[in-house]
Amino acid sequence: MKTQLLTCTSEDILRAGQILRTGGLCVIPTETVYGLAANALDRDAVLGIFRAKNRPADNPLIVHISSLDQLSQVVRKVPRHALELAEKFWPGPLTLVMPRASCIGDEVTGGLDTVGVRMPSNEHARAIIDAAGVPLAAPSCNLSGKPSPTCLRHVLEDMDGRVDAIVDGGECSVGVESTVLSLCGERPRLLRPGAVTPGMIGSVTGEVDIDPGIDGEVAEDVTPSSPGMKYRHYAPKAAVTICVGELDKFRTLVRERGCAALCFDGEGESLGVPYVEYGAEHDHAAQCRRIFTALRELDEMGAETVLARCPSRDGEGLAVYNRLTRAAGGRFLFM
Ligand code: TXA
Ligand code: MG
Repeated sequence: MKTQLLTCTSEDILRAGQILRTGGLCVIPTETVYGLAANALDRDAVLGIFRAKNRPADNPLIVHISSLDQLSQVVRKVPRHALELAEKFWPGPLTLVMPRASCIGDEVTGGLDTVGVRMPSNEHARAIIDAAGVPLAAPSCNLSGKPSPTCLRHVLEDMDGRVDAIVDGGECSVGVESTVLSLCGERPRLLRPGAVTPGMIGSVTGEVDIDPGIDGEVAEDVTPSSPGMKYRHYAPKAAVTICVGELDKFRTLVRERGCAALCFDGEGESLGVPYVEYGAEHDHAAQCRRIFTALRELDEMGAETVLARCPSRDGEGLAVYNRLTRAAGGRFLFM
């Protein structure tokens, strides 16, 4: 398939909307990562997403809306806390899991009775949803298992020739996918950490449970709260191990092993091995923006074995820690 490259002019946004409304697949920019969008109400279009990404059919998609009015169209019931959270964090990088409306099909939710909904803060994303006139189902537009694309070059690597159009919206400002929060249990439950942190959510809801699947690998015989938890994610070709401990020990270790390093800004040069830096040690927002690009850069370097500095789990750091843990397939080394 020939993929059209579009920009964010009003003409191109209308074009993207028309492609989506008529059942096509279009990559759209959002503030988190680029999304592979289709009309959420069109079964065949949604199935096209799974084909284009090689995505397992039981991993549900997030539905993107551009106004609060659309919420009642896609959910059956608005649970407690949903409107307060929407008022505080929408438009923005927060996905709320709620009971699904009957117009949202099994192919969107992976057969679950719930649906994840978010309203992106990227104005072009909302303009495209408006132009389409329908809610859009959109996962991150990486090929399944690869790091999520946050710039046009990475989108083209994974999606050129697989979709009808790609809208270039520049670099994504957040860089990791939205926070996913379930509102379907007794208490709000964090299923995936993102730029909206547990502290920020707690300031609205009082309590928030952190799903244990966030930190570790989900055992094969357990049904995870979020199907996405059980898949190996964000994985570069290299075998990554996260090293917990100080820089001095890390330096000694990478030199001994002669492997590549994934480290914080300013640390690389002193290591004496090939390296990629992923933001300053205490700048979690920068780490979010850098992490997926850094993982792709390690592949471009041809790195086979990578030792990585461990990010802190404070605030947005938890999102970086979570993505890196997945990229490392849960491999840790305590120095
Ligand atoms: O920032 C984002 O959320 C991006 C952009 C494009 O909006 N989208 C994104 O979609 O990251 P995706 O499909 O790559 O990740 C969706 C995650 C998966 O881990 C999935 O299992 C979880 O959200 N999820 C979606 N609907 C769910 C539901 N009803 N219940 C539990 N988890 C759900
Ligand atoms: Mg994804």
